[in-house]
Amino acid sequence: MLKDNIKNAKSVQELQDLYTATFGKNGTMTAKLKEMKNLDNDARAALNAENSELRELFKSRQTELENAAMMAALAEQKLDVSLNAEPENRGTLHPVTQSFKEAVAIFESMGYTLWTGPEIEDDWHNFTALNTPDYHPARDMQDTFFLKNGNVMRTQTSAIQIRAMEKLGAPIKIFAIGNCYRKELDATHSAMFDQLEGLYIDKVEKNINLSDLLGTMRVFASKFFNQDVDLRIRPSYFPFTDPSIEVDMKWGDKWLELLCGGMVHPNVLRNCGIDPDKYQGFAFGFGWDRLAMLKYGLNDIRAFTDSDIRWLKNTGF
Ligand code: DAH
Repeated sequence: MLKDNIKNAKSVQELQDLYTATFGKNGTMTAKLKEMKNLDNDARAALNAENSELRELFKSRQTELENAAMMAALAEQKLDVSLNAEPENRGTLHPVTQSFKEAVAIFESMGYTLWTGPEIEDDWHNFTALNTPDYHPARDMQDTFFLKNGNVMRTQTSAIQIRAMEKLGAPIKIFAIGNCYRKELDATHSAMFDQLEGLYIDKVEKNINLSDLLGTMRVFASKFFNQDVDLRIRPSYFPFTDPSIEVDMKWGDKWLELLCGGMVHPNVLRNCGIDPDKYQGFAFGFGWDRLAMLKYGLNDIRAFTDSDIRWLKNTGF
């Protein structure tokens, strides 16, 4: 009877109760075992055998029940690996970075070397060496962030051409992109923006001139925008180029400003230890964010720095 009950116990708890009723302080077997000393040898042997058999039964039923419980739990927690996994969202390159990578490939294919410079600039590289001395009215063109020690947040990547010429001398053919800073903020101006700068200087015998600049820009723009481009030039003024021009590109039925540039001013060459009687060349600068906006059909420059992933997704990046 007890043996059947043990074998049929339906849960660990039920088995536990049976065990207590059998081997607990007031258990039936406990009572019998206490009387062992009064039994003859045969009866003792029989009781011992019963004792062992019952304990074995309890043990094996316990194992059975525990295994069953484990199997039930496993069945319940089974992983359904056939479920469709959530697609993994991969990050993408920022539009400015992406367009810059394309520009790097194009300029490198034309023999330009990528150059770089610091975002905190000294007065010499940002202004003075660029033929823009202290008293020069062109300093008013830019609302500059001045630091307490007299340095500035770089207002133009033109500072990089000075650093490159100081280091490499001439001939030189470099381009650079970097953050620039000015106190302006609206839909088409950002206090931090990117410029792309280029510089090509060689011996005067090579006669590098404005039509070379225009040809270079035509090659660049047609590759960058993947289409034939119509360019026109307008006279302009920059202290570091003479003559200075602005280049527009036909976009639909409008002319849009593409870049500024000109023949590098002799004073700038001289400031970098290059003899303007021996060397000449051109420089150019793009407002890079605007170029990226144009390429990708965007209309608010501030979106570039908002880090709004929904915007970046909607623009196809
Ligand atoms: N640095 C000028 C600006 O910020 C752009 C520029 C004009 C760069 C003429 C040049 C250049 O290299 O030759 O507006």
